[in-house]
Parts: sequence; structure tokens; C-alpha cells
Amino acid sequence: MSQGTVTSADAEARARSAGVPVVDFDPECDPVFKDDPLGTILAARQIGDIFYSTAARGFWVVSRHELCREISQDPAGYSNRETFTFYRNPPPVFQSPANLDPPDHAKIRRLIAPLLSPAAVRRLEPRARASVAAIADEVLERGACDFMADVALRIPAEVFLEQMGLPLSRADEIIATRLLPGKLNASNDPDGTLLAAAVSEVRSMFEEVVAERRRRPADDVPSYLLSQTVDGRPLSDEEVLQLCHTLLGTSLGTTASTMAFLFQWLAGQPEMRRRITDTPEVVHGLVDEAVRRFPAIPMVSRTVRADRDVRGVTWKEGDRLLLLLAAANADPDVFPAPAHVDPERRPARHLGFGGGGPHRCAGALLAHMELRVLVEEWHRRIADYHLGDLSDLTHEVSVAVRMTSLPLVVGTAGVPSAR
Ligand code: HEM
Repeated sequence: MSQGTVTSADAEARARSAGVPVVDFDPECDPVFKDDPLGTILAARQIGDIFYSTAARGFWVVSRHELCREISQDPAGYSNRETFTFYRNPPPVFQSPANLDPPDHAKIRRLIAPLLSPAAVRRLEPRARASVAAIADEVLERGACDFMADVALRIPAEVFLEQMGLPLSRADEIIATRLLPGKLNASNDPDGTLLAAAVSEVRSMFEEVVAERRRRPADDVPSYLLSQTVDGRPLSDEEVLQLCHTLLGTSLGTTASTMAFLFQWLAGQPEMRRRITDTPEVVHGLVDEAVRRFPAIPMVSRTVRADRDVRGVTWKEGDRLLLLLAAANADPDVFPAPAHVDPERRPARHLGFGGGGPHRCAGALLAHMELRVLVEEWHRRIADYHLGDLSDLTHEVSVAVRMTSLPLVVGTAGVPSAR
């Protein structure tokens, strides 16, 4: 069967004949995902190692660590061209490593690698430390905050926006515009009009920056990309713009989301907070565990490139797959007592940054550094805190998941509570 002609009815029939569960697993529209996205994805392990969802355009779901990893490491067998498997109307894709296949994928990864290398991340660490220190001091003075808006979204922006050629003075507006697509789906934007408008707004921000850097290069990411070549030719303005769009998109919300999930958990863990203050060495492992236990990108998509039999199921070229990284990260065969956040867990074979294949998160070191610095600097200033009223807690669910707000109160009064 040729690419793209496989129908969801055909895939569903194959699932039924293989005895695989067929269910309506619908991250885009089912409200349970908004209440508790990670819990809902984790619970899907009970449905099966592989199952078929009739939601949206129909897709296979994989919940086991071993198979998620195997698929992630096989770009010849599974394509990245579609990154929104579970959407009814997938948004437009960009020139991004996230949706390129070999050999083009490696060319783009090679271009962005120096921007996110260990040396580049080390250079950004003092800026991250200063940003967290100032933000934590502000929170200490005020005695309370919306951790999501006042802390988690601000840190990655303060570390990375200027690198992207964008002014920090417009951080709030840029964050709001950039995060808007994650709030839109078939329920609140059925014909994709709002999504198209949000995407074009980010585009026009970068159009200005790229045109300006073409005239007057600066020491930032757009200027660097404009100086690069691919296949022996310079990158076009359009390619630079799309890469900038991708880097901004991948760098803000994911890290902020992990920060918020981690602090939601830490707020109910006085013992762990004491360990952080007494032995800051624990923080490195704690951050690994946060990315395992609270993965901000809990599901990734792949498309089958050629017919194949996998674990007794026939997959055909063009079949859509959704890999449940959050469920794989709770696989008890790989992570004993998976619900337990254990900074000493070794080795950290989790899939929170992807399954170790060529698409593994390009910004893992940057994200890890920002999380580590946040935990270290915050606990130097604020060791006691608890959650505020969570009755309005809800989540945005897209490729990334994120809570909309997280009220946090400084001091020990009140009853610490975390889900
Ligand atoms: C805690 C924060 C973060 C998490 C949990 C995270 C997680 C992920 C995951 C799961 C993937 C997909 C892997 C796959 O498809 O196999 C990914 C891809 C990617 N991430 Fe991150 N990420 C984070 C932060 C960042 C940051 C700070 C950047 C910086 C720019 C970044 C840049 C990227 C890029 C460019 C890709 C596409 C890589 C490719 O397909 O080759 N991420 N990330």
C-alpha cells in the first residue's frame, strides 16, 4: 500500500483481528487529559502494551518502554514527518528537526548542535543563576506567586529570548503568543483559524529579526544561522525563520512545564526539600527523576515507513503511532516502584527527552541546567513553601502538557498537598 493511502478503518480492522484493544483514547478533546494529563497517560498502560485509538484520524498507541525505545531508535523504520498524530487537523509543520527524516535530519541537527552544546550551556548558566536569584527574591518578598507565570515561564525566557534575538522587555507578549497554539484544539478552534493566526504572529516576530540580522549581524542565534550553509549553500531567510520558530517553541514551555510539575511535587515533600538544602548534590539526580516522572512531552508521534509485523500486530506504511513516553517512564520492569521520585535511580534510562534515537531532545542539557539552577538557587532562599488553592488547576494538552497556573505560598503554614 502506498504512503498515506492506508485508512483508519483498515488499521482498526487489523487491530481487531490481532486481538489488540480498540478504544477512544483522545488527548486532543477528552477532558480527563486536562484534569490530569500525566495520570491519564500512565493509566493507559492498563489498556495494553499496544492498542488502537479510534479518536481523531485513528492511531496506534504504544505504552511499553522497550518498544517506545526501539521505535525511537529506528528512523529508517519510522518517520517523523507527522508530529501531531492525535490531532484532527494537525497544525502546519516547519523546517524543524522534529519532523525531518534522514538524511536531512542530521544536516539540521549538525547546524543547531553548537547552540546547545555543553560549552554553550555553561556560558548561559550565570544568566540562569542571576535570573532565578532575582525571581526567588521577589517571591520571598511577596510571600506568594503563581509559580507558572511568575517563575517557571520567566526563567527559560530570561535565559534564551535574547539569544533568539528577541527583546526581554517583550517577554510576556512573546510567551503568550508562543504558547497560544498549545491551548488550541478541535474543541475550541475547530477550523484552525485561531491557530493559523497565532502561528503567523510568531512568524512575523521572526521575520523582523531575520531581516534585521541579515542587515546587521549580532551575537545571537538568528545571526549564527544566517551564516551557516547546508548542502554547500547558505540557509535562506525562510529556513532561518523556521528554525528560530522551532527553537523558541521547544525551549520555553517544556522546561517551564517540568519546573511546575517538580515544584508541585516538592511542595508536599518537606523531607526532600531538607535534603536539597543539606546536600545540594542530590539535585542532579532529582532533575533526572523530574524529567522521567513528569515528562512535559509525554507523547511523541511516528509514522510507519514500511509494512511490518511488530509484537503480533501488522503495521502498514502510513500507519500513525503515538508513543506514550510518560507510560514508558513508569514501566515497572525498568523502573522499580515507578511512582517514587528517587534521585539515586541509576542509570537514568528514561524517555523524558525521547528514546535515545537521533531525535533525542536537542536542548536536554540546557533544560537540565535550568532546572538544576532553579532548584539550587530557589532552595537557598525559600526552603519552606506549600501549594495554594488548586481548585482551578487545569492543563493545556498539546504535544507538550502544561498546567495553566500553580499557586504557591511561601512559609510552612497550611497543609502541603500534591497530587
Ligand atoms: C524539560 C524540558 C524538555 C523536555 C522534557 C523535552 C523533551 C523533548 C522530547 C520528548 C523530544 C522529542 C524526542 C523524540 O521525538 O524522540 C524533544 C525534541 C526536541 N527538543 Fe526538547 N525538551 C525539553 C527542553 C528543550 C529545550 C530547552 C530545547 C532548546 C531549544 C529543546 C529543543 C528540542 C528540539 C530542537 C527537539 C527536536 C529534536 C529532533 O527531532 O531532532 N528542548 N524534546
